[in-house]
Amino acid sequence: MNTAVVSEDAQVVVRPLSAHTGAEISGVDLSRPLTRSQIKAIRNALLEWRVIFFRDQFLSHEQHVVFSAQFGELTVGHPVFGHVEGHPQIYSISKFRKETRFEGEPLRRPWTGWHTDVTAAVNPPYASILRGVTIPPYGGDTQWTNLVVAYEKLSAPLRAFVDGLRGVHRFAPPQGAKGTDAFASAVEQHTLVSEHPIVRVHPETGERALYVSPGFLKQIVGLAPRESQVLLELLWEHVTRPEFTVRFKWEAGSVAFWDNRTTAHLAPTDIFDLDFDRQLYRTTLVGDVPVGPDGRTSVSLEGSPMGAAAAIALN
Ligand code: SIN
Repeated sequence: MNTAVVSEDAQVVVRPLSAHTGAEISGVDLSRPLTRSQIKAIRNALLEWRVIFFRDQFLSHEQHVVFSAQFGELTVGHPVFGHVEGHPQIYSISKFRKETRFEGEPLRRPWTGWHTDVTAAVNPPYASILRGVTIPPYGGDTQWTNLVVAYEKLSAPLRAFVDGLRGVHRFAPPQGAKGTDAFASAVEQHTLVSEHPIVRVHPETGERALYVSPGFLKQIVGLAPRESQVLLELLWEHVTRPEFTVRFKWEAGSVAFWDNRTTAHLAPTDIFDLDFDRQLYRTTLVGDVPVGPDGRTSVSLEGSPMGAAAAIALN
């Protein structure tokens, strides 16, 4: 069976990679300006498959920015960790960017490390675009999960319950990180805390997503601490069910483009057991303030919204 879907005038070929999440796109050169129909075909694939992948796209930082800007306004590289010098919209994802020492072995659960980008901000980026430059010959895969299908696969009574809940997302140093650690102190100096609905309504499709970024969501508002912990663990275990996920094997020149309104992802940790280097670069696109099924919007508790980076030239 041929599973590829071809957008007629754009020559964009979309090949799904799993039942619910992820598609690989071919027939397009990201280093060149896209036509309106190519942009439309890519946007449609992003909305349908939540994360899309491209191969053999050897972009410079400038080309990465120009490609990204065709889909929205770019944020500064990262609100806490900054950007690549001379490239305000590019965030470096290097192997040891978050090298953090622990007093003891931190508690690791199956959902440890899963997150949606910067959900501690009141307007988390709507999308992220990550490009691979130095890639290990093996190891270093990234995984994504689909938070819409996760919502839809909850039982109806649980869906009705979580529809009315809100949660506090906080950018905090990892449990056990030393106060002197550069990563931990950068986080401490840029406190970012927001309250978001637990179920987010997608502004373009109207779909409901289980917006439970495991790395940032700390507490469900109004529940007792134990109730909150048990419910969050249930939801995190649920959203990371393997059948909702896709696992991507990077190559130099690979690009991953994901919708942060409907996904969470997991950066690899196996690279720390290998001697190979790994270097990727990311842009993020300014997002809107989430809205719950009851029409209530998110609120900022600490820190500023994520604004656009300085204006960029599109030539
Ligand atoms: C990220 O969390 O945005 C980076 C994922 C990765 O390093 O694979």
